[in-house]
Formats: sequence, C-alpha cells, structure tokens
Amino acid sequence: MQLSRRWIYRKNSTSYDLIATSEAPPSPGNLRPEECLVAIRAVSLNYRDLINWRNLAGRKIDGIVPASDGAGEIVAIGSSVTEFQVGDRVSPNFFPTWKSGKFDLAYHQADLGGNLDGMLRDFAVFPEKSLVKIPHGWSFSQAATLPCAALTAWVALVRRGGLQAGETVCVLGTGGVSIFAMQFAKLMGAQVAVTSSNDDKLQRARSLGADLTVNYRTHPEWSKSIWEWTNRHGVDHVIEVGGPGSLEQSMKAVAAEGHIALIGVLTGFGPPTTSLFPLLARNIRLNGIYVGSREDFQSMVRFLDTHQLTPQIDRTFRFEETPKAFEYLESAGHFGKVVIEL
Ligand SMILES: NC(=O)c1ccc[n+]([C@@H]2O[C@H](COP(=O)([O-])OP(=O)(O)OC[C@H]3O[C@@H](n4cnc5c(N)ncnc54)[C@H](OP(=O)(O)O)[C@@H]3O)[C@@H](O)[C@H]2O)c1
Repeated sequence: MQLSRRWIYRKNSTSYDLIATSEAPPSPGNLRPEECLVAIRAVSLNYRDLINWRNLAGRKIDGIVPASDGAGEIVAIGSSVTEFQVGDRVSPNFFPTWKSGKFDLAYHQADLGGNLDGMLRDFAVFPEKSLVKIPHGWSFSQAATLPCAALTAWVALVRRGGLQAGETVCVLGTGGVSIFAMQFAKLMGAQVAVTSSNDDKLQRARSLGADLTVNYRTHPEWSKSIWEWTNRHGVDHVIEVGGPGSLEQSMKAVAAEGHIALIGVLTGFGPPTTSLFPLLARNIRLNGIYVGSREDFQSMVRFLDTHQLTPQIDRTFRFEETPKAFEYLESAGHFGKVVIEL
C-alpha cells in the first residue's frame, strides 16, 4: 500500500520544527456520507504559517499538518454527497465550518493548518460543504493561492469594503494578500497605490497596473505621497496588513469616511504605536477582517471565472523542499505567493 506523505509541526524548546512523516491513506470505504476524499496537488504558504511555525502567537499545534491553502482532486465521495463528483477540482475553505453569513467565534475552533490538520499531505477528507470548485482553467498551483490570501483581499475590498469603480486603494507591501487586492481592485476599475521596501518589486507592481508606487523604507512617511497622489483627498480603501506599526501612516493616507481593512500583523501583535484619534476625526470605517466564508469563496470564484486574473506565483517548491519554502517566505524575498507542489 502506498503511504500518504505529510508534514507536521513538532514542538521544540521555543517553537516548532517541520517533520516529514507518512501514514496509511484514508480509505474511501470509511468516508462519512457527507465527506469527500481529496488528493492534494498543490499548497500555498501564507505569513500565518510562519506565525505558527515560529510560535509567534503561542498556538498549540504540535502534530498538526501545516498550511490552510491548497487545491486538489476529489478521488472518492460519501453516499450523500450531491454537489461534487469524483474528478472535481476543489479547494477547502480556510474555516471549514463557516458556510455563509456572519462570522461566529465558534469558527475559531476549526481553522485548517491551525486547530485542524492543513494541506501539506497527499490526501485529506473534507465535508462537502467546506469545499469549493476552483476557477475554470486554473492549474492546481494557481488555485492553491486562493483560500486565505485571495479570499481575505476579496472580502476586505468587496463584501466588507463595498469597493466601487473609480475609487482609490492603497495596499501595503507586495505579499500574497496585497497583490491579490491590487489585482481585484484594478479589475474593478479602481486606481491602486502599492508600497514596498524593494524598488524591483515596485517595478513589478507597475507592470501589473499599479498607478502609484512608494518605497516605504526610503519614504517612511509614505502617506504624504498617497496624499498628494489623491489631490489631498486620501484613498478610499487601505489594505492594512502591517498592523500596529503601520496604522499611523494608513490613517494619514485614508480619506475622510474612507475604509481601513485591518488584516495583518506584519509589525507584530502589540498595541498601535500612535493615537487612534484620527479614526474619529476623519470618520474612518475600520473593519477587522478574518478571511471569509465558503459563500464568499464561491462568489470570488464566480468573479475569477469571468475576469482575467493570473495569480502571481513567485516561486514553486517540491513537497520534499517544504522547509526551504517556509524559509523563503520568511526571507520576504517573494512577490505574491509561494507554492509547494505535491
Ligand atoms: N486577517 C486575515 O484574515 C488574514 C489573512 C491573510 C493574511 N493575514 C495577515 O496579513 C499579513 C500579510 O500576509 P501575507 O500572507 O500576504 O504575507 P506575505 O505574503 O508573507 O507578505 C509579506 C510582505 O509584506 C510586506 N511587509 C512586511 N512588513 C511590512 C511593513 N511594515 N509595511 C508594509 N509592508 C510590509 C513585505 O513586502 P515588501 O517586500 O514589498 O516590502 C513582505 O514581503 C500577515 O500579517 C498575515 O498574518 C491576515
């Protein structure tokens, strides 16, 4: 019998090691009626996987399979599955139990690659109501970029942000969430400003349609460039992936009654380094975002099925090279996404 390969987190003295292991694959005969057996073909990494690996949030993940994001093919279905058949190409939702509607704190108890085993394994079993068909014509590697980074950008701009054509958007850095946000915003007729610590990455963002680019390392007061670019009006939306250390500039960059989607913690989990008074003074809408529901994922796929968007995959690693892929993401040399193929 061919074993199913898997990577797991194993606790060390301060954080976690990545350990390659294997087990007997799930048997189709043991599927519950509502379950699907998926052969995973590609996985993508997110900064959140670094948070878990480096134990930055103190999560108890010993023995858990890393990574929320992946795509694969259904190889067996349970007796009551109606939405899928063998051969369908799918991705699981980041929160398998968040089907639709508003977020519920109970969903925290089940996140892939956190409380639940994630995608870095050959085979996995999912309830059908947690799966989504990937966009037509997309490769597994391309689709593996969608569940966390793309869906977060989609929910931030579209469902929670209400982005309209002609509006302006600022995205921070050139990682997975921000590049998807730039691509969605451009396709919806917005103008986009991109910040980065790296001029080559800014050039790459311009080639994808960025309207304004600013190096936040050489211009720590980057909001001034945004302010002038918008004729001293400010941007309508900020994709705030930095957190406490970048919020001051984001509040200076946003328009009165503008929207800040608070998504990330790239500058840490501490309190903001500045007064939050500008939020009141400018009547800013501050939305905390935590990925999205299966219904959000399906609406994003409908958009991707009807618009031309190519996910930006910076580099692809083999399954055996998983620790190298984590190290590469940690080096922050990437633009967009880092993928692991099985
Ligand atoms: N709430 C949610 O649902 C959710 C979902 C996904 C991600 N996140 C969070 O969002 C953040 C981004 O995630 P990701 O997976 O897109 O990360 P990623 O792909 O690893 O992107 C990292 C990039 O962010 C940029 N960056 C780092 N520090 C920065 C700073 N101080 N200011 C501006 N940009 C900075 C850098 O871009 P340059 O090299 O161009 O400078 C870096 O390469 C993380 O904190 C993650 O935990 C949250």
